[in-house]
Amino acid sequence: MDLWQLLLTLAVAGSSDAFSGSEAIPATLGRASQSLQRVNPGLRTNSSGKPKFTKCRSPELETFSCHWTDGVRHGLKSPGSVQLFYIRRSTQEWTQEWKECPDYVSAGENSCYFNSSYTSIWIPYCIKLTSNGGTVDQKCFSVEEIVQPDPPIGLNWTLLNISLTGIHADIQVRWEPPPNADVQKGWIVLEYELQYKEVNETQWKMMDPVLSTSVPVYSLRLDKEYEVRVRSRQRNSEKYGEFSEVLYVTLPQMSPLACEEDFQFPWFLIIILGIFGLTVILLLFIFSKQQRKEN
Ligand SMILES: *[C@@H]1O[C@H](CO)[C@@H](O)[C@H](O)[C@H]1NC(C)=O
Ligand SMILES: *[C@@H]1O[C@H](CO)[C@@H](O)[C@H](O)[C@H]1NC(C)=O
Ligand SMILES: *[C@@H]1O[C@H](CO)[C@@H](O)[C@H](O)[C@H]1NC(C)=O
Ligand SMILES: *[C@@H]1O[C@H](CO)[C@@H](O)[C@H](O)[C@H]1NC(C)=O
Ligand SMILES: *[C@@H]1O[C@H](CO)[C@@H](O)[C@H](O)[C@H]1NC(C)=O
Repeated sequence: MDLWQLLLTLAVAGSSDAFSGSEAIPATLGRASQSLQRVNPGLRTNSSGKPKFTKCRSPELETFSCHWTDGVRHGLKSPGSVQLFYIRRSTQEWTQEWKECPDYVSAGENSCYFNSSYTSIWIPYCIKLTSNGGTVDQKCFSVEEIVQPDPPIGLNWTLLNISLTGIHADIQVRWEPPPNADVQKGWIVLEYELQYKEVNETQWKMMDPVLSTSVPVYSLRLDKEYEVRVRSRQRNSEKYGEFSEVLYVTLPQMSPLACEEDFQFPWFLIIILGIFGLTVILLLFIFSKQQRKEN
């Protein structure tokens, strides 16, 4: 620990009276290093400080973008020194020269965006990052391998039917494909995975992937509230995109009896009938006794 860190540690410890006992030291150190990171962002990254590719993604098989980590050296960021170059193989040969990224802006900081003019499928691309002229990272891929669609939108549901016992219901869930995916002309074929759970459960139930944009979900309990979400991937690909927004499903409430379990239903009736029957017998008994007295 250098002097600077020690001073910060003392400053943070001094400014807080929330700590006590043995827990104080790690908590204080954690906070001190957090403040240090704000002061000196270089500590956040790997000590080598070299930028690295984090992700390349095509949302719709028409454009793609690649992102990389901040290149930071000795805490001093030198903007403009990191560059991305790419080559792609056209027909037979690699175009021999590396070309620089066409657009550093559209996909955000530390990224390169390839619009549709720069995107070809079934063609290998190689990309490399250079920092002050030296190559620091490199990778190769084909655009169809990096497809991760945007989330499906417009989730909604309709009731299919309710069981005779009034305990379970089936619903149909519908959604729309991500707006930027050209599924109409068949440029991209998506398959969808629906997941659902009771609101208070932690584990999502997964359904098998489907090519349609609607799917029935069976046997939901009328007395529970459910959450449903859908994600998609290019057909036969591995990587899914992000999940849609969660759809909340509150089923229509039936009569109070509907909330009882199957097997409780007859017992409930039998007990009421039993009490009613006993009361009638008792009344008849009293009535007949009184009549006998009067006679
Ligand atoms: C720094 O990056 C190298 C590869 O670039 C990795 O092997 C190493 O584990 C990283 N170190 C830390 C502390 O993250
Ligand atoms: C792609 O970007 C270039 C400039 O970087 C621009 O000239 C071209 O029109 C763009 N193509 C499309 C389809 O937007
Ligand atoms: C779902 O559909 C119903 C009826 O068709 C409509 O009233 C409701 O606004 C829709 N919900 C959403 C989130 O689109
Ligand atoms: C809904 O109806 C179908 C047949 O029409 C039946 O198979 C299914 O079990 C019913 N669902 C419930 C919850 O009763
Ligand atoms: C979920 O749990 C909370 C507290 O445990 C409860 O108040 C709420 O009614 C539950 N919601 C559902 C839909 O079961």
